[in-house]
Amino acid sequence: MVIRINIPGNEYEILIARGVIQDVKSYIPDEKKILVVTDDGVPSIYADAVVSQFSHAYKFVIKQGDANKNLRQYEDVLNALSQHAFTRSDALITVGGGMVGDLAGFAAATYMRGIDFYNIPTTLLSQVDSSIGGKVAVNLSGIKNTVGAFYHPKRVFIDPDTLNTLDQRLFNEGLVEAIKMAATNDARLFEYIEHCRDIKSNIEDIIVRALLIKKKVVESDPKEKGPRMVLNFGHTVGHAIETLGKGKYYHGEAVAMGMLYTSDNEAKTRIENLLCRLGLPLKDEFSTPELMGVIAHDKKAKSGGVTLCLVDQIGSSKLVSTPLEEIEQRIARRKKA
Ligand SMILES: NC(=O)c1ccc[n+]([C@@H]2O[C@H](COP(=O)([O-])OP(=O)(O)OC[C@H]3O[C@@H](n4cnc5c(N)ncnc54)[C@H](O)[C@@H]3O)[C@@H](O)[C@H]2O)c1
Repeated sequence: MVIRINIPGNEYEILIARGVIQDVKSYIPDEKKILVVTDDGVPSIYADAVVSQFSHAYKFVIKQGDANKNLRQYEDVLNALSQHAFTRSDALITVGGGMVGDLAGFAAATYMRGIDFYNIPTTLLSQVDSSIGGKVAVNLSGIKNTVGAFYHPKRVFIDPDTLNTLDQRLFNEGLVEAIKMAATNDARLFEYIEHCRDIKSNIEDIIVRALLIKKKVVESDPKEKGPRMVLNFGHTVGHAIETLGKGKYYHGEAVAMGMLYTSDNEAKTRIENLLCRLGLPLKDEFSTPELMGVIAHDKKAKSGGVTLCLVDQIGSSKLVSTPLEEIEQRIARRKKA
């Protein structure tokens, strides 16, 4: 399956196929030098499979984990490119989850003002979400994605077989992002996931349909000026839960709980039932003042309000600029329920 992203000046293909990781060379000129960047939590078979296809490829392994998505590791990638005398006609390939894609993608965006970048996402979250849309970044002093750019890959290769080595908790975290896209944009996909009894065997379908939503959203708002904020469904409260949890909850788990604060009526019931069936956490243990403390300090809280993505009916959503007092009431209501 091929999905084409059409952003003016940045047209590229996403190839989705089982086993495609063994065949990336067919799409990248062999005369280029290639730096394959992965992290030490990604099974090495994936990066090795890519390196072995090229005559001039080097593997560079960074430390896993979001705490390591920092300027030091970014500089390490730049140094690796420089030490191997990469020029602007060479290329970088990322093999890993969103952390590797964001960090090494940013290195590709900035090394010599930009070299070709190919992305091979290997977590479900990166396959349905972070590998397209062009956002690359590192954290600054622990604050997420403060330094970054919009820089699109030349091509994305999605091999659902790489998910076989992903543990269930990480798999579910990625699924939350697909559910988020379905809940806000595609009632039929939501229904499909609701009724799917063997999600792993049908994951290729879910990835493709989630990517088609992300494609539509990203093409309509490449620089995240407005409509793309629909992808933040669940993230305002979710981010607060993630921050207060200090590592207890994965991002996707926090977003799952966050979605339940910003959905209503039948949509809320259906999302809750689906998350419950998948074994995702539904309620956090933090008080309304604790959650509000983080939300009020969030960088997105502009002049006393936050743009919330609200879902009242599965498949559609509204972006509503919401005063902090209303958010507080929403949170308190759910806490009481
Ligand atoms: N650019 C965007 O638009 C965007 C969107 C959402 C999230 N993000 C970013 O993505 C990152 C999170 O991405 P993630 O959830 O993929 O986490 P991640 O990249 O940290 O990967 C999670 C863990 O899974 C391991 N792993 C990766 N692939 C594996 C595989 N196939 N088998 C076994 N283990 C594997 C990694 O080593 C890591 O330990 C965050 O930094 C977040 O800010 C970016």
